[in-house]
Amino acid sequence: DSSHAHVFIILGASGDLARKKIYPTLWCLFRDKLLPPETYFIGFARSKLEMSDIFKKVQPYMKVKSDEMELLQSFFKINEYMSGNYDSQEDFEKLNELLEAKGKCNRIFYLALPPNIFEPATAQIKGVCMAHESRFTRIIIEKPFGRDLDSYTALSEHISSMFPEEQIYRIDHYLGKEMVQNLMIFRFGNLIFNPIWNNSHVSSVVISFKEPIGTQGRGGYFDQSGIIRDVMQNHLLQLLSIVAMDQPSSTSAEDIRNEKVKVLKCIEPPEMKNVVLGQYVGDPDTEGDSAKGYLDDPTVPDDSVTPTFAAAVLFVNNERWKGVPFILRCGKALNERKAEIRIQFQDVPSNIFNRGCIKRNELVFRVQPREAIYMKVMTKLPGMSFNCEESELDLTFENRFMDAKFPDAYERLLIDVFAGSQMNFVRSDELYEAWRIFTPFLDEIESSKAKPIPYKFGSRGPTEYDTLTKSFNFVYSGTYRWTDASKI
Ligand code: BG6
Repeated sequence: DSSHAHVFIILGASGDLARKKIYPTLWCLFRDKLLPPETYFIGFARSKLEMSDIFKKVQPYMKVKSDEMELLQSFFKINEYMSGNYDSQEDFEKLNELLEAKGKCNRIFYLALPPNIFEPATAQIKGVCMAHESRFTRIIIEKPFGRDLDSYTALSEHISSMFPEEQIYRIDHYLGKEMVQNLMIFRFGNLIFNPIWNNSHVSSVVISFKEPIGTQGRGGYFDQSGIIRDVMQNHLLQLLSIVAMDQPSSTSAEDIRNEKVKVLKCIEPPEMKNVVLGQYVGDPDTEGDSAKGYLDDPTVPDDSVTPTFAAAVLFVNNERWKGVPFILRCGKALNERKAEIRIQFQDVPSNIFNRGCIKRNELVFRVQPREAIYMKVMTKLPGMSFNCEESELDLTFENRFMDAKFPDAYERLLIDVFAGSQMNFVRSDELYEAWRIFTPFLDEIESSKAKPIPYKFGSRGPTEYDTLTKSFNFVYSGTYRWTDASKI
């Protein structure tokens, strides 16, 4: 539909998300000529500002090379800003006038807004800002999509009373990551994995998200949600559903999302005994951020029991996966930055080699940083001996695809919205299931004020996590470490 103008409207243009993510992403897409030919941007927020003020705020987050100054000017020229109130019909009528001035244009609204403004703003869009019939209107929204099953259901009913599902683009930015998109091709484009992708061969699946930073001033926001709502209920559960799903009948958004929902429907809420919660404390032997614990953040209440680390074991009770633990683990202020999916296979049934020398196979999708897929395998130690050695079949992306550019998740996802592809966006029933799974357990944690286990900033998290994984038959031998080949 590139023969008509496209207007991308950022509601909440003066906020954090717009400054750090949306404007810098739009700039990259513009610079790389990935947008439809006639595209304009309109920022909208309450603050009485000029576009030049917005740019001042945004520029520190934009990567601009010295020879791109002219291009940057052209980007500025297609941007406008207007201030207005989110519940004012008059202001949205003015916004509509700006839109009408671009002719019969397609309209994409990015709602970078706090949840309490969500309802009035969408009502105004629906009331006075919809595109002409022959053009599209699309709405992009981000988490939090409610904070439990009830609030999500209310929000969802509100949205669906105004916009049909095909107009709604719910972002989970993990779906825009290179390795996450690769999962499907890897699983369904190779013959060899599907036959072992089940409870006869897989012993456990560990899906991890680790960050070496604390809440860094976002403590106030974070304390309202905690790591389970911030990362586990969305990003990690999305990864789980793609790892566990059956092959969709096509790559259409609906076929894929149908398979993901089928997986989620087979998951019961985790049992409290299969959960580990942690909260970081400062490491007094260090200086700077890592010396401070979560409770030292002035925006966090002194008695907060909000977890900054969580691990939970889920089971997908279907024919393929019954009995296989899916261990989700996420935490802030840990020892490293890493997101990965680790599939551990069962023991070789009859080990004819030296006792103890055969270790389990593992297939690892390293989502970030330094994308890689590697398979832990046993091999003969080279030389005269007949000893076994743990090694790996390694597909490290930056070695194999040296010139490839890996777009940022947001770049890919925003292009998908222009193109009308919902494959990498979350459907309402997926979110319903996600909240169904996590709400009872969140309620239990919150009503019991369960005290999280303290762990030191920069550590691997509570050691109780290792006890948990061990009790679910995850074997960590400690004898092997993947060598990041790009660093050799
Ligand atoms: C966000 C969370 O959704 O994801 C943050 O709110 C987290 O707390 C971030 O830091 C991680 O994203 P990425 O792309 O850096 O792994």
